[in-house]
Amino acid sequence: MASPARDNLAAAGVPVHTDLATLDWPNLDTVLEAASQAALRVIAPQVLGQGVDLVALSAGATLDPGFLTALMTSAQASGARIWVPSGAIGALDVVRAARVGEVKSITLTTTKPPVALADAPWVVEHGMDLTTIDGPREIFAGGPVEAVRGFPQNVNVAALLALAADDPDRLRVTVVADPAAPGNVHEVEAIGSFGSMRLRLENRPSETNPKTSALAAQSVIALLRQLGSPLRFA
Ligand SMILES: NC(=O)c1ccc[n+]([C@@H]2O[C@H](COP(=O)([O-])OP(=O)(O)OC[C@H]3O[C@@H](n4cnc5c(N)ncnc54)[C@H](O)[C@@H]3O)[C@@H](O)[C@H]2O)c1
Repeated sequence: MASPARDNLAAAGVPVHTDLATLDWPNLDTVLEAASQAALRVIAPQVLGQGVDLVALSAGATLDPGFLTALMTSAQASGARIWVPSGAIGALDVVRAARVGEVKSITLTTTKPPVALADAPWVVEHGMDLTTIDGPREIFAGGPVEAVRGFPQNVNVAALLALAADDPDRLRVTVVADPAAPGNVHEVEAIGSFGSMRLRLENRPSETNPKTSALAAQSVIALLRQLGSPLRFA
């Protein structure tokens, strides 16, 4: 099967393995997953079981509480750590700090052009016609689990915020269709005893992978740089 990632690695002289069993486990520091939720489910138990740190980009898999608990148990047993890059969103530091005090609400509002939402399972199942919309219209409001089932393209940002909030039930998700939206816009709002926070992100697609935000790939590189630096941000 064609794989630009494999070709790029080979061109850069990085050894390519297609079988985890052939990896030099004792000399590995970190394994980075940037493939799919299915791949993460397969590799995570093996990586953590070997006591090797894991960077997991396919955060959506953590919305399955059974999988998340299994990862934590495995990491605690081996001493490995699980790193979660901020991906296509931000404000996770504020949400994590806010939950140390009292949190009143955490909301994610995703606004997209109607054409980007027309095929979403929620829109199809509810027979919504988005072609006649002439201004912003709220088409979904609910919890993250229902949101990612209805809008699978939102799965990672909802999962990251649910992880940071330490409780999916604390997060409310709203999806808005807006013909004037400048692309995929994510707004995160948190209100609590700390005060309030509002973040608005207008993500640009990656030049080399248009279905992914440029920020997601950059967040992984930023995390890897941080792992190699004595200065850590959290
Ligand atoms: N956390 C975030 O904010 C965020 C943002 C963007 C993407 N993601 C997630 O990151 C993952 C990668 O995203 P992408 O847009 O680069 O996807 P992509 O489909 O463009 O690329 C995935 C690559 O992984 C390879 N791959 C898939 N399964 C594999 C396996 N089992 N073993 C080895 N290689 C495998 C594919 O061949 C492909 O080269 C997805 O799960 C996506 O949902 C997360």
